[in-house]
Amino acid sequence: MLRHNENKMRLPWRATNLVLLRPLPYSLSRMIRVRHLSHSFGQHQALSDVSFSLGKGEFVFLSGPSGAGKTTLLRILHAALPIQRGEAIVADFNLVRLPSASVPLLRRQVGVVFQDFKILPLRTVEENISLPLELRGLSDTHMERRVRAVCIALGLEERLKVKCRDISGGEQQRVAIARALVTNPKVLLADEPTGNLDPALSLRLMELFKQFQTYGATVLFATHSRELMGHYPEAHVMHLESGRITAANWPGAGVAHALRAGALRENFAVPGPGNAR
Ligand SMILES: Nc1ncnc2c1ncn2[C@@H]1O[C@H](COP(=O)(O)OP(=O)(O)O)[C@@H](O)[C@H]1O
Ligand SMILES: [Mg+2]
Repeated sequence: MLRHNENKMRLPWRATNLVLLRPLPYSLSRMIRVRHLSHSFGQHQALSDVSFSLGKGEFVFLSGPSGAGKTTLLRILHAALPIQRGEAIVADFNLVRLPSASVPLLRRQVGVVFQDFKILPLRTVEENISLPLELRGLSDTHMERRVRAVCIALGLEERLKVKCRDISGGEQQRVAIARALVTNPKVLLADEPTGNLDPALSLRLMELFKQFQTYGATVLFATHSRELMGHYPEAHVMHLESGRITAANWPGAGVAHALRAGALRENFAVPGPGNAR
């Protein structure tokens, strides 16, 4: 046995690299893996036995009515809430027993756009967006370059020096998205980020999220808007209801329990753009 290992060590470097180039096993290419996750607030069960997995570069809507548990799930996935029961692995971080010193490392890989923006009104657009880079200790020139690039992509380059209290709601939302994207995270969690925007702006922001996915990021996008989802009939959707995943419309979701076809039809009869209510 020992001799066998020694032989392995003496492989020429090219052969070793070939081993590394082999496609990852299915389980390792998963960016988010959740197993039997449950969460309660006192007596109230917000999540019950949730299991699914998402691969690299997947874009998925997390649908469900208000109170279904979408925010709770997203908060657990970026370690803003502890795991009470079950398991979750996000961007290779095991959230069970995650030492507090590792939380900033996890957050470098996981961008979050909150429902209520959470931007600092008295700081400029540039300061708000560079915040996560400052936490990483990047040089000023490097930070400026990254902030400028993401601002150009989001049409904010004219607003860099303006305080966030003086820009419009739509611009504030774009600042929140820019701040989540500037670190180039592997996973992007969006909590109803288009909730307070008019339909035209919502669709423009959606295009940005879809673009981000094409760079290989995994995007989990919570929304209760059937109208918004109706514009993306091909999109993967995972439906949460009273803390349980009741349906997913693609087999790769790895949703643990069998789903009835009826439940799928019920939950995904989303209106198309033409007949949106
Ligand atoms: N901090 C909290 N304390 C008590 N109950 C909460 C808390 N956060 C969420 N809940 C409850 O958990 C359930 C799921 O909430 P949430 O995850 O915010 O749902 P959603 O984002 O789908 O609207 C709701 O019934 C909500 O009232
Ligand atoms: Mg919510």
